[in-house]
Amino acid sequence: MIPRMQTPSFESAPADPPPGDGRPLDRARSARIARAFLPQHPLGNRHDYFYTLFKLRSDPLYPGVLAALRGSRAPLLDLGCGLGLLAHALRSDGQTMAYRGVDIDAAKIARARRCAAATGLADATFETADLADGMPPHRGSVAILDVLQYLSHAAQRELLTTASAMLTADARLVIRTGLGDDSRRGRTTRITDRLANLIGWMQERPKCYPTADGLRETLEAAGLRTTFTPLYGNTPFNNWLIVAARAG
Ligand SMILES: C[S@@+](CC[C@H](N)C(=O)[O-])C[C@H]1O[C@@H](n2cnc3c(N)ncnc32)[C@H](O)[C@@H]1O
Repeated sequence: MIPRMQTPSFESAPADPPPGDGRPLDRARSARIARAFLPQHPLGNRHDYFYTLFKLRSDPLYPGVLAALRGSRAPLLDLGCGLGLLAHALRSDGQTMAYRGVDIDAAKIARARRCAAATGLADATFETADLADGMPPHRGSVAILDVLQYLSHAAQRELLTTASAMLTADARLVIRTGLGDDSRRGRTTRITDRLANLIGWMQERPKCYPTADGLRETLEAAGLRTTFTPLYGNTPFNNWLIVAARAG
């Protein structure tokens, strides 16, 4: 059974708005978004389409992130954007802020561009970049979804501090990450990430899973208030949604 409501376990101060109810997107909306990833070329394969359809229908990530960003017009930088699924989810939610996605995987960025162009996605750009080498200049909101574990501890801290400094008054920093702990969920998350690398879906290998205390300390030191919410849905993973905004 899918949990209806997941209460935040801890927070430093409430960050508005609430981060979703732990359910994935409904089937019809998932299908509409995933259609953008149908192969445009007759020889293309359907892997991206089935992957995105499965992810949208099973993962509570997108409702959580959409709820966290709703109400802000700040431009969004999506770090480690993959195929750019968030851009499609935002537009389907009526959120029209400028979107810029960056990812180390040049092949994914090429597919993200092609799908965005094929569906006429407005005001969305995609670039190849390695976050370990630094971040593109930006002012506004920042999304970091399922990416932190691919960076070293030092690179994570630097990324989070730099991203925090980018936030404008109405902007939000939205992070989804598995947290490093010895729970069964923690172990399942680590094994699945490793398998994704071994089968070639993820070019990168996981390096370091952040802890809740470490994340909170870094974000609060950067002047942000934070809310941590478990985002398990009906998945076996130790996923959390962290929403941060400027304090005061
Ligand atoms: C699990 S996927 C998440 C994709 C997307 N954020 C989403 O939620 O659908 C992780 C992404 O992080 C990217 N990534 C890993 N290490 C990176 C790095 N050093 N710089 C930029 N992107 C990176 C991978 O290429 C991959 O697309």
